[in-house]
Amino acid sequence: MAPFNSTQQSRSHHLPAFRPKEGQSKKKKFRTLKDVMKRAKRVAIPRDDYSKLMCSICGSGEKDEEILLCDGCDNGFHMMCLRPVVVRVPIGSWYCNKCHDHHPTPIQKFTQRKIMDFFRIRKSAMKCISPEVARRQRKRSRPLVLQKKSRKLLPYIPTEDHDRRSKQMESLASALINLKLEFSNDLTYFPGMAPKSANQSNFESGGMQVMSKEDIRTLEKCKAMAERGEYPPLRVVFDPLEGYTVEVDAPIKHMTFIAEYTGDVDYIRNRADDDSDSMMTLLLASDPLKSLVICPDKRGNITRFINGINNHTEDGKKKQNLKCVRYSVKGECHVFLVASRNIAKGERLYYNYNGYENAYPTQHFV
Ligand SMILES: C[S@@+](CC[C@H](N)C(=O)[O-])C[C@H]1O[C@@H](n2cnc3c(N)ncnc32)[C@H](O)[C@@H]1O
Ligand SMILES: [Zn+2]
Ligand SMILES: [Zn+2]
Repeated sequence: MAPFNSTQQSRSHHLPAFRPKEGQSKKKKFRTLKDVMKRAKRVAIPRDDYSKLMCSICGSGEKDEEILLCDGCDNGFHMMCLRPVVVRVPIGSWYCNKCHDHHPTPIQKFTQRKIMDFFRIRKSAMKCISPEVARRQRKRSRPLVLQKKSRKLLPYIPTEDHDRRSKQMESLASALINLKLEFSNDLTYFPGMAPKSANQSNFESGGMQVMSKEDIRTLEKCKAMAERGEYPPLRVVFDPLEGYTVEVDAPIKHMTFIAEYTGDVDYIRNRADDDSDSMMTLLLASDPLKSLVICPDKRGNITRFINGINNHTEDGKKKQNLKCVRYSVKGECHVFLVASRNIAKGERLYYNYNGYENAYPTQHFV
């Protein structure tokens, strides 16, 4: 189980053995504890093996409260020495990378049918946009200068090349399957968690910014594209230091809508003991009991694979290329990821995990 904790140190105390002297045993069966203690020899009590606990990665035994014990091999690991870093103490069993079969599986090849089922794409939908249609679509959008000035959301432009698009989808499907997650591009509500009626933007303390009608149209256009299997040009890749991370497969312009952060909606109060590292604030209500989070632990989309910047370094801030924004859309709260500058092909996506609350520990992020 979880962390090494100094209060757990001696699981079995080795008490000094007491044996009555010859002939004494019959006279007196029991001795008082005081008597026992008087006669007992002083011995050093081994503090079980945990006092020698060291991190198998850096070899140090410092910060033992941050050392996790593997339930498989019993070795210790500093949370920040693990890759990817473990930011919260896991609840229940925890296995190191060697003992866990949680290694990144290579990207799987899927049949067209399987991809369509996995992403729930309608039958006739998954076809390439013809270059001509794509050109017309682009022409209709306004010139860049105007777009920049008015800060309107831009729809993403899916990759036209069919094979390339399949590879992007395969990379996401493989990563989701590896984490035993289903794909969902919408917020989901399940019994036992917060109901849909709990997601009301007017509960937000201080109010929530309302999305403009024009931006809602862009959002709807992107949602419709996604239903046809046309996603933003992104790939999920695995990095030994950062775990899964998202790479850009074609240039993306400033203010481009990337995706909505999705998963099961639940009350924050239900998740106090949740060790998930991908929960996202959805609603910060004046009444804390009404506050909501998005939990992509069973269902989610590409957003749960996007990594965060290190809030403690200048480099971290330079890396940021997305902003995470919350909006009221038709009275409901939603969280969106939007390009905060032009992003080049090959760049990885990063945003600030501490945009709303400064609770996410990022000091060990690369
Ligand atoms: C929302 S998940 C992002 C996807 C994650 N990398 C994965 O493999 O599933 C957040 C976790 O990713 C890792 N992470 C995110 N940003 C990171 C960074 N800049 N450097 C290292 N690890 C990072 C941390 O383990 C963090 O707890
Ligand atoms: Zn260590
Ligand atoms: Zn292990």
